[in-house]
Amino acid sequence: MNVSTACALVPGPVLAIESSCDETACAILAPEGTILAQRVISQDGHADFGGVVPEIAARAHLSLLPELVRATLKDAALPASALGMVAASTGPGLIGGLIVGSGFAKGLALALNRPFVAVNHVEAHALTARLPGLVEGGAPFPYLLLLVSGGHCQCIAVEGIGQYRKLGGTIDDAAGEAFDKVAKMLGLGWPGGPALEQLAREGKPDAIALPRPLIRRPGCDFSFSGLKTAIAQKLAPYGRTPLPRPFAADLAASFQQAVADVVADRINHALDMMPAARLLVAAGGVAANSVLRAQLEQTAQSRGCRFAAPPLRLCTDNAVMVGWAALETWAEAARRGQTPFTDITLRPRPRWPLEEMASRFTPPHNQSAAGSLS
Ligand code: KG4
Ligand code: ZN
Repeated sequence: MNVSTACALVPGPVLAIESSCDETACAILAPEGTILAQRVISQDGHADFGGVVPEIAARAHLSLLPELVRATLKDAALPASALGMVAASTGPGLIGGLIVGSGFAKGLALALNRPFVAVNHVEAHALTARLPGLVEGGAPFPYLLLLVSGGHCQCIAVEGIGQYRKLGGTIDDAAGEAFDKVAKMLGLGWPGGPALEQLAREGKPDAIALPRPLIRRPGCDFSFSGLKTAIAQKLAPYGRTPLPRPFAADLAASFQQAVADVVADRINHALDMMPAARLLVAAGGVAANSVLRAQLEQTAQSRGCRFAAPPLRLCTDNAVMVGWAALETWAEAARRGQTPFTDITLRPRPRWPLEEMASRFTPPHNQSAAGSLS
């Protein structure tokens, strides 16, 4: 059964909410995946603290969501009663925001008497590439996903809906975290990735020798803390004196190149671990980095793979991916004779390993009564 056949079983559009970090987002998708409306608010109020403050984020989700959901419904020109189901990121992420978003979505689902679908945020990133029309040639299973954001840095073998294998991940900082910390050392604002990339355009990527942590080591784990320490050492002689701009630019360019080299090497290893992959998908905020993208594209090509990175608004946290993951999950459940169902009793989870996602599907004709919505 393909997605559109299975989605015929979805009784109407899905309204999805994303609130796992500092983006408050809502989207409405038609059953076959067409985006009817989407809105994202990137919260302010965190920059002064140099990072996301969970308590501020949760409160902001709470005050932003009602109007955001109303506005998204208006954009889609739909009354709430036309919705077929409601979905929300239910983990992993910052627990306060997850409670707010999934609580809001559950309340809406109950009021409308529609199913609630709990979406794993990382699974949503993993499946985004399959949104109809997004990637030329489509994104059939299996493919390799590189998820690089402020909170995540991992290589995942995406082998089917609910079938994920983590091949490797960071043993210290996430890639975006490293960009943010180095940007802070260079006196740039937060989030630092885009500002650092801009500054790096003025510098030379081979100007300053920096380490390439874990490069050529077996497996595809990442480490960025040594790189961060190396930058701190280069900056130490300047103390509190302002950095000469050419030096700051060279450092930014050299750091960016080191990250790109490390990630490309790790991806080469990940592809060794997943010989069936014919497609490499990059997602997460750091996938917006043009130097990294170019290097990943080259790496994929050299291995006979296609490379795809969703457009930036779908690479970073958004609710479209949440709605799409809910639709794909329904399609898979339907394929297994397991529909309709609702996750209304599922609690938000700060940690929710992807490997657990297979267990949400019962074998055909063996539905649990607790999970079904009659
Ligand atoms: O996916 P995202 O919006 O949010 C989560 O962290 O979940 O990713 C944000 C991260 C930040 O660390 C930001 O500095 C980084 O992505 N980032 C970039 C670029 N744009 C965003 N890093 C490097 N180069 C960029 N152009
Ligand atoms: Zn994310």
